Amino acid sequence: MAKQKTTYVCAQCSYQTAKWLGQCPECGSWESLNEQHKTSKKRANLEKLPETLAFQAITTTTGQRISCGIAEFDRVMGGGLMQGSMVLLGGEPGIGKSTILLQVANALARKYQVLYVSAEESAAQLKMRGNRLQLDQAFQVLVETRFEIIEEILLKRLPDVVIIDSVQTIGMMDVDNVVGSLSQIKEVTARLLQLCKPRNMTVVLVGHITKDGSIAGPKSLEHMVDGVFYFEGDTHMDLRLIRAQKNRFGPTGEMGIWRMTGKGLEEVENPSTVLLAHRPDNAPGSVVVPCIEGSRPLLIEIQVLTSQSAYGTSRRLTNGIDSNRLAMLMAVMEKHLGIHSAGLDVFANVVGGLNVREPALDLGIIMALVSSIRGQSLPTGLVCFGEVGLVGEVRAVRQADVRIKECRRLGFKHMLCPQDDKLEGKDIQNVSTVADAAEWCWR
Ligand code: TYD
Ligand code: MG
Repeated sequence: MAKQKTTYVCAQCSYQTAKWLGQCPECGSWESLNEQHKTSKKRANLEKLPETLAFQAITTTTGQRISCGIAEFDRVMGGGLMQGSMVLLGGEPGIGKSTILLQVANALARKYQVLYVSAEESAAQLKMRGNRLQLDQAFQVLVETRFEIIEEILLKRLPDVVIIDSVQTIGMMDVDNVVGSLSQIKEVTARLLQLCKPRNMTVVLVGHITKDGSIAGPKSLEHMVDGVFYFEGDTHMDLRLIRAQKNRFGPTGEMGIWRMTGKGLEEVENPSTVLLAHRPDNAPGSVVVPCIEGSRPLLIEIQVLTSQSAYGTSRRLTNGIDSNRLAMLMAVMEKHLGIHSAGLDVFANVVGGLNVREPALDLGIIMALVSSIRGQSLPTGLVCFGEVGLVGEVRAVRQADVRIKECRRLGFKHMLCPQDDKLEGKDIQNVSTVADAAEWCWR
């Protein structure tokens, strides 16, 4: 006979325990544990087992791409949204998620049936924004926060593309979870998957992520969806980037670049120029590095500032660069260049709000550190790139030729880079150690 078991489940984070507790030990919420009865069954008695498949006999069909014609959006998706897939677009509030998706909905509506579900803004607010964006197509809008209603409408209308803005603000009527809680957004996503996948509807979910760490929500959906795309960039600046963090149907790391204007997001054709637009001349601590973002080269400015620590402990703050990597590079600088940073606060920043994780940045970061500590700027028209190892060696990085080409296009005159037989030109300065690089810069 089936046995009744009682468990207590946290409405916020789905933590389970056999005893009732006033505070959830997992997420810290108070009085969020609710009683749940589970019937433990014996082994499932399946009448018909599915057949296993011979691997070589499996047939595939190549899916259709739904491209919207906004080139940067199609690029980051890997050539357009894959029909029948579900993707997540995450980013901080106010960064431009709703704006880009309204533009995409409008562009897609030329060829497809599009439903924009707004669970945050009223229809009038959407319309006002749409007027600013000069939208002219007839996509459908549904202002609704109840999942069950959205479900019914989807079943009735069967649109090609559904945009859900946002997954955190949609609630299930029959589950007494808090809207926006982890278990709720997981449930909403799972039910949408069940509903849309078999009907070949393409879904774009919006997820809010805040810088101060409350990323738990959308992050927990990453494994459920086919693609995860995050906005990068500083909300105070006008550059906006969408990066493919995960994409089952395209390359990861691919990036789309826009500028926020009075008429919405405008594609940026020449991102390096935009990123370097306000770069000061001859400023100590500033360096330009060519990186490869997705499939294209991008010139970025890294700024390092070092100053005497006011307190006993020195601070190390980074923005867009891995702080552990910075610590390692500082150790290499101390050991192999004999330049000490004890008693100094160090701040490092990638201009434009980008997050760059390429080792090709290493050489540039070291040069910027030295430049800031010495108070001497790097030579005019210089770029540097190369991975730096623990013994102070400068190592080769991928696609050096592509990087060099972009630097030349933007008029840089000196390229400090690792030894590479394929690179030729008077403007190229090969270095094999960080000491060589420092010597070349401050001969
Ligand atoms: P929004 O798309 O609402 O952000 P999210 O959905 O990610 O929360 O972005 C709104 C911001 O963009 C807001 O600060 C105003 C600005 N904006 C413009 O600068 N120009 C425009 O044309 C639009 C529509 C918004
Ligand atoms: Mg929004």
